[in-house]
Amino acid sequence: MKTGVCYYPEHWPEARWVVDAAHMRNLGLSMVRIGEFAWSRLEPAAGQYQFDWLTRAIDTLSDAGLEVILGTPTATPPAWLIRNHPQVLAVDENGQVRDFGSRRHYCFSSELYREHCERIVTELATRYGRHDGITAWQTDNEYGCHSTSISYSSAALSAFQKWCERQYNGIDALNLAWGNVFWSMEYSNFSEIGLPVGTVTESNPAHRMAFWRFSSTQITSFNKLQVDIIKKHAPGRDVVHNFMGNFVEFDHFEVADDLDVASWDNYPLGFLTRDGTNPEDQKTFLRTGHPDSSAFHHDLYRACGKGRMWLMEQQPGPVNWAPFNPAPLPGMVRLWGWEAFAHGAELVSYFRWRQLPFGQEQMHAALLLPDGRDDDAAHEVKQLAEDIRKVLSLNINVDVSPAPVALVFDYAGDQAARIQQPDGQNYDPLVFMQNIYSVVRQLGVRVDIVPTTATMDDYKLIILANCSVSDGALAMKLKQSNAHILMFPRTGSKTTECAIPDQLPPGDFQQLIDLKVTRVETLPKAIRMTTKNNVQVVDWRERVEATFPAEDAFEDGWGFHFQQKQVHYINACPDRASLLSLLQARLNECGIHSLNLGDGLRIMQRGELSMAFNYGPDEVLVTEEIQQHFCNENPSRVILGQPLLQAGDLCAWTGSATESTSTDG
Ligand code: GAL
Repeated sequence: MKTGVCYYPEHWPEARWVVDAAHMRNLGLSMVRIGEFAWSRLEPAAGQYQFDWLTRAIDTLSDAGLEVILGTPTATPPAWLIRNHPQVLAVDENGQVRDFGSRRHYCFSSELYREHCERIVTELATRYGRHDGITAWQTDNEYGCHSTSISYSSAALSAFQKWCERQYNGIDALNLAWGNVFWSMEYSNFSEIGLPVGTVTESNPAHRMAFWRFSSTQITSFNKLQVDIIKKHAPGRDVVHNFMGNFVEFDHFEVADDLDVASWDNYPLGFLTRDGTNPEDQKTFLRTGHPDSSAFHHDLYRACGKGRMWLMEQQPGPVNWAPFNPAPLPGMVRLWGWEAFAHGAELVSYFRWRQLPFGQEQMHAALLLPDGRDDDAAHEVKQLAEDIRKVLSLNINVDVSPAPVALVFDYAGDQAARIQQPDGQNYDPLVFMQNIYSVVRQLGVRVDIVPTTATMDDYKLIILANCSVSDGALAMKLKQSNAHILMFPRTGSKTTECAIPDQLPPGDFQQLIDLKVTRVETLPKAIRMTTKNNVQVVDWRERVEATFPAEDAFEDGWGFHFQQKQVHYINACPDRASLLSLLQARLNECGIHSLNLGDGLRIMQRGELSMAFNYGPDEVLVTEEIQQHFCNENPSRVILGQPLLQAGDLCAWTGSATESTSTDG
């Protein structure tokens, strides 16, 4: 794993570049991302290019021994482009044009904007494609950030109408598929179709689902346009995009399909305070981040990148964009880097090199203070690079091997569950999914996140938690596998058109288990329901009709937990404690040894290397028993840190027979 940093040479005097480059090397950094917001400096007026400064910046950095990742600047179209062509701007759900003055103000559907992107990316790729110092390219920056996946512009409208025309065999087919007879929503031709926005009450779920699929496809084709140009002129270079955390507004598997590596931007404290739904967790993990949030995304994006994952931006100190922005506990910057390594990251790059005293992000910490001296993260980043080098020099096998458990992730399924839920405001499909991931990880078991199209032959347990779209191919694949299958509420509850399947939920997944969901109810936060076996249920419950008895039941007679051979259907949302017992039982059943690590301790394995991370507020001892559990009961040898972990601390050990060399961290 390499370490790197995001750098903006255009923000600093040129004389400083060489000083910065040397200091980057001094901190053990070997990659540097530049250029992704520099359009106004590359093309200050239409067709007038200024590449000399960029050439000098790339040369300075690569002469210092840094590999350059060059970003395309398409997230920030400059003022002249916007003022000359305001029709490229995106439009929000209130019909408001998203104007110039920050970033990401373009509409993915604007053909004219695509032409400008094609032009600037071609200029860059033809000039720098074969530059020895540039080893990777980043397309754009964080697709969808600031709610920009969807635009309601007239360009989007006409592209959507054409998309519908290609998808459906005539307007009658579309009317039938969307159920437009309801409320007289039928169209007589494709040009009558509008966008699902501004309607008096909710717009048709089928319409919204189609528009989501269309918008996701627009991002895929926008990205591919750039990838194709870069691939043509920059042979052998990795092409990446930096995706976001807790973000499901488009199908990331589809976009990543055209990339060499999926990279993502990790802000653990920002995510906790902005997205954390649980106030207790916010308190406990305020300065460490949720113990499973980074891990979840590492595993998700490793799947998107078909095994290749980078961290393009990693939080170095307080950020500026969450509702409140605490400072990380000392040691966390190093710990987050190690957690990324544990999940197979090839690069951890920090955002950003030096805190900027002007502009929107002046309150965002960096590796350096605005005055150019080291800030707290700098020494942790240096230590991380040294640690990794030392541990890898021991020649321990650190191959990332498949986990025993797979969690199937379906972006369309997530979306379908979001589009229509009968007042189920407490149920968020992503949060529910992350909760399951978190519980399995708390039980000391690794989880792979996989798309519905993955080969799943080698898993012992396969979990479906957001596959709400009925999927015959997936059902067939699962039927043929030897794995135990665990399905959660809403599995197969909608067709691809967001309608209830004819055979009732779980739709095609009835091939796996012979039951039907005949009623769903959603529950307010204050309500918990308890089963006879004391399972606590919150948020969502389903009534099931089955040809066999349930394992458990609610007081009112609704059955709970249906099992047929190796297949389980859990027809409600258990609270965390109940989820833990349920999952522990499933792991046992398929011969996976689990060990409850408690709230804050997490352990991850890579080949013969095991690593323990303390995200909790209290010290924890990684006992020999725990160490041995993770190295197949071989005697273990601690090779980094100490087993008594303070908050924010980590240690690593191996159970292999390698020579003992102490590398205390
Ligand atoms: C990311 C973005 C960066 C920067 C950073 C601040 O979302 O890609 O450009 O804005 O957040 O945390």
